[in-house]
Amino acid sequence: MSDRLFIFDTTLRDGEQVPGCQLNSIEKIEVARELEGLGVDVIEAGFPVSSPGDFNSVVEIAKAVTWPVICALTRAVEKDIDVAAEALKYAKRGRIHTGIGTSDYHIRHKFNSNPDEILQRAIACVKYAKRYVEDVEFYAEDAGRTDNEYLARVIEAVIKAGATVVNIPDTTGYCLPDEYGAKIKYLMENVTGIHKAIISTHCHNDLGMATANTIQGVLNGARQVEVTINGIGERAGNTSLEEVAMIFRSHKEAGIETNINSQRIYDMSRMVSRLMNMPVQPNKAIVGRNAFAHSSGIHQDGVLKNRESYEIIDPKDVGIDDSAIVLTARSGRAALKHRLQVLGVNLEQDKLDKAYEEFLKLADRKKDINDDDVLMLVGKDRTAMHRIKLEYLQVTSGVGVKSVASICLNIAGERFEAAASGNGPVDAAIKAIKSIIHRTMTIQEFLIQAIDKGSDDMGKVHMQVAYDGNIYYGFAANTDIIAASAEAFIDAINKFIQ
Ligand code: KIV
Ligand code: ZN
Repeated sequence: MSDRLFIFDTTLRDGEQVPGCQLNSIEKIEVARELEGLGVDVIEAGFPVSSPGDFNSVVEIAKAVTWPVICALTRAVEKDIDVAAEALKYAKRGRIHTGIGTSDYHIRHKFNSNPDEILQRAIACVKYAKRYVEDVEFYAEDAGRTDNEYLARVIEAVIKAGATVVNIPDTTGYCLPDEYGAKIKYLMENVTGIHKAIISTHCHNDLGMATANTIQGVLNGARQVEVTINGIGERAGNTSLEEVAMIFRSHKEAGIETNINSQRIYDMSRMVSRLMNMPVQPNKAIVGRNAFAHSSGIHQDGVLKNRESYEIIDPKDVGIDDSAIVLTARSGRAALKHRLQVLGVNLEQDKLDKAYEEFLKLADRKKDINDDDVLMLVGKDRTAMHRIKLEYLQVTSGVGVKSVASICLNIAGERFEAAASGNGPVDAAIKAIKSIIHRTMTIQEFLIQAIDKGSDDMGKVHMQVAYDGNIYYGFAANTDIIAASAEAFIDAINKFIQ
């Protein structure tokens, strides 16, 4: 029998405290809906007393989602609790998350107080919150550095006062995994009435131990984890949701189950990264660009023979299409053959050997080899299969004149002409294309690179185009960078227009 672990997501509260990553209410609703689809149990939607914007976000999120509990943070201050209760009035299931610092650092320096007074304030804030909602979570801020005996007294008292969940934050990310696990065990064994409440972990990542500490907390009795998407949060961040969910999915012997629909993890991660303008580090576990990418020949060969030789998670389980076999100078023949097969090209052994020799020469010059490079190596041109082709492009541009582009596209044999002006020659060309292809598409990323050096060099353009909620990649190379830009845009469009 498995034990249920509740996932409390605080991306929109602790996660949103990252400088420069603030979201507006509409974006927060978008994230909250996606979190609901992901299957989180609790959404911490904000700290309502902190600003009218936060208050409003909690109200709107409470209206927008149905089944997760909506939680609002407060200090152990009556005014905070009044405002949180007001913000939660539309929540189908609302929770007030209130608490106070319990470590000596907080008691003496932050509050200029003493342990008995803090204990009374803890009891009072829970009782006050109970006037509004049944579900009250108490946090003992800096519990990680709080003496276990005193912590147990506080936790026992707040449970008696009605707390349904008791949060044991390692606010400064200081604890070692064994130490944090032992703290939870101590509470399980020494707090009378502990079974009337759920113990929650809330671990920060200052020493890179947030996930390890959270896991130890769960293995010792906690049944709620406070986490964020991509592990974002104050300073070095919080425990990352995707890591905890996939750890318990991979280690069934732990007997812990969550409600997370793991196949939605990758899209969720991208959404948060995009809306918060916060790139995910490439080597981030589970969701980093390289999490399922293999670049050395030995690993590639192993993965192609049996994925599990070098992967403990099937990328499809987290919503990633497939493992990436990254072609570099360290790749072997097997990887090149595989990539060609994926692209629909099957070569006889002697042709493959020849292509591999050329590939190695190119890979020595270039950091990574993309599909177009590979097709070029074997004399195939993907654009030949394109439905939309560029017939001609003429652009006027210069200093003191407006850029104008005239274009002709051949779409499945029929010719379409258009002209447009723009902020510059590329803008004019893109606008002219858009005036023929009537779709709502936006360029998300646009990169121009020279292949070698010199003004007669080829310009390579990589583009990311967003259309209908998906991202499509376009690529082109041309000695004329305006033409390369238009061709890359058309290349991306060809991927969604059949
Ligand atoms: O890190 C922390 O202690 C917190 C509390 C407010 C729950 O975020
Ligand atoms: Zn925190």
